[in-house]
Amino acid sequence: MSDAFMRVFGRGSVARASAPGRVSLIGDHTDYAEGFCLPMPLPLETHVALAPADCFRVHSEEMEDTLDFDPFGPPRGNWSDYVAGPLAELVKAGFTVPPVEMTVRSSVPSGAGLSSSAALEVATLRAMLSLTGQAVSDSRIAHFAQAGENNYCGVQCGILDQMASAMGRSRQALLLDCRTNKGQLVPLPPEFHFEIVHCGKPRHLADGAYNERRATTAEAARHLGLRALRDADMAALEALRDDEMLRRARHVVSENARVLAAVDAIRTADVAGFGALMNESHRSLALDFEVSTPTLDRLVESALDAGALGARLTGAGFGGCIVALVPAESSDWWPQVVAGNPCAWLVRNEV
Ligand code: GLA
Repeated sequence: MSDAFMRVFGRGSVARASAPGRVSLIGDHTDYAEGFCLPMPLPLETHVALAPADCFRVHSEEMEDTLDFDPFGPPRGNWSDYVAGPLAELVKAGFTVPPVEMTVRSSVPSGAGLSSSAALEVATLRAMLSLTGQAVSDSRIAHFAQAGENNYCGVQCGILDQMASAMGRSRQALLLDCRTNKGQLVPLPPEFHFEIVHCGKPRHLADGAYNERRATTAEAARHLGLRALRDADMAALEALRDDEMLRRARHVVSENARVLAAVDAIRTADVAGFGALMNESHRSLALDFEVSTPTLDRLVESALDAGALGARLTGAGFGGCIVALVPAESSDWWPQVVAGNPCAWLVRNEV
């Protein structure tokens, strides 16, 4: 990394940090309803290196682009906002944020639903805090990262991605309670073998539709006189008259229950039970929450036909990736999947 910094800026970096992308195993579109999520960090990471400078400047190896930005000023409307936004939150909270030159290198594919944005935000914050010698907890880092994305980039995301990136540990699922903001690590038994497959299409028009889904679930909670859908049960939903709102709310309520059941399945090494919950989750995301696409649905079908015990879209949906629970011994699983979906690509074997 410091080689990239040296090449771009002609000197060595002073602070470096990294943060991983994540796969959401189950529990999507529940975080902003103060519900439960179960992500796991990926062995794919974003690395940031920086050094004090006269102005704020960032170079991305993947974008092959260098941009000036200013966390003390308004957003620029380009990818540097994902760097400037979290730093702007540090400024607001009274932290020292000196001007820096930065390089970014990442193996987290962007637009795949694997939280490349959160990895960049968390790595940026860690590198800045390391440079200035300021200590901040992982959970507070996650909140600065999320606030930066909400306030600076205009994406009303929940806390799932940033918490998973900041608090996750390898080969451990992270049970997140998005009301208390507490995370609990749940080690995966060896028979839990996940594969992540990109459907070949990036997330499409995701942000507008995402914000709209979030608004509908908040409205449903208001109709029910609740602080958030976390507090609703299936019986309470009968009071919702609007069919679309009912289906959106039903996804959130049922998904919260599935996350808790999935944690039990991990703890009892019930692989088949976990797989069945993934399948129900995908159906609910596709039919009730309507964030799947024909390409994602086809890929989930192929993953199951090829022997997966469960498969579902992962993250926000609208394109990007699926995650499948695959028997470790099935070596012909991937060839079968790709035969039916020539545009699909395996993000990583053996997560
Ligand atoms: C995106 C958002 C998260 C979460 C997921 C869906 O990744 O950034 O906050 O809402 O979608 O679970």
